[in-house]
Amino acid sequence: MRFLLTASALAAVVAAVATPFEVELDERVTCPPNGTLAKPYENPSLIVQVSKKNPDKKYGPTKHPKITPNDLCAAINLSLPPKAFGMVCRLSFKIPLKTETPSTYDYAGKGHFQFQGYLSGFGADENTTYNNQPLPGPSPTAPDNISPGHSYTLLQAPCLIPPSLTPVTVGGLLCSNDTSFDWVNSDSPCPLGFFVELLQLNLENLGL
Ligand SMILES: *[C@@H]1O[C@H](CO)[C@@H](O)[C@H](O)[C@H]1NC(C)=O
Ligand SMILES: *[C@@H]1O[C@H](CO)[C@@H](O)[C@H](O)[C@H]1NC(C)=O
Ligand SMILES: *[C@@H]1O[C@H](CO)[C@@H](O)[C@H](O)[C@H]1NC(C)=O
Ligand SMILES: *[C@@H]1O[C@H](CO)[C@@H](O)[C@H](O)[C@H]1NC(C)=O
Repeated sequence: MRFLLTASALAAVVAAVATPFEVELDERVTCPPNGTLAKPYENPSLIVQVSKKNPDKKYGPTKHPKITPNDLCAAINLSLPPKAFGMVCRLSFKIPLKTETPSTYDYAGKGHFQFQGYLSGFGADENTTYNNQPLPGPSPTAPDNISPGHSYTLLQAPCLIPPSLTPVTVGGLLCSNDTSFDWVNSDSPCPLGFFVELLQLNLENLGL
């Protein structure tokens, strides 16, 4: 099955030609080496809960978002600092096995997620509802399936942001049609959830 990463916000971050790829994590009790974050990186600046079944209800910001099949979704803001200009942006999604992280999360289902990107510069706020979301953007392709024990690079390409003195918001909406997932998006103690890693602009990081 296809995991669609539609992200103009993210498309603004990355080139449309970016190829998603997946890296297997080792099973171990300490944080998985494949699940570490390259520095510098950004945590989401805001996550807002919304619901397809209560599309006008304001759930507001949360540190513990919950996805449920065809209902609850999470709108995510990631803030790119000015230093991201001229760097490579790697949007990653990390789910260590429960044996690999002390972080708490619940995951149940077949692992098909849908991601709708927002236009660069448009992100969720405290009033965002399912019916009142930021403007949508384009759709790069992402992994068919997202499941525990994996670290996914959803997109990796030059950060397509203008030179700026202020951070630029990119983001999108994560939903699923068959999976429940609730988590605390955090880089500590082991990275879990969405992050943007900022890499040097060089041939290796461009996959060339
Ligand atoms: C969920 O979506 C995938 C495509 O991403 C589709 O193949 C699958 O049949 C859907 N599952 C359900 C239960 O609707
Ligand atoms: C990640 O895991 C894959 C598969 O086990 C391995 O080939 C790769 O070298 C690992 N990468 C790192 C950075 O540990
Ligand atoms: C989320 O994105 C919007 C649009 O760019 C921005 O106005 C807002 O400040 C962001 N909020 C956070 C906490 O990131
Ligand atoms: C959210 O809505 C309240 C009430 O209408 C308003 O006062 C507030 O400014 C809004 N917040 C944002 C970020 O638009």
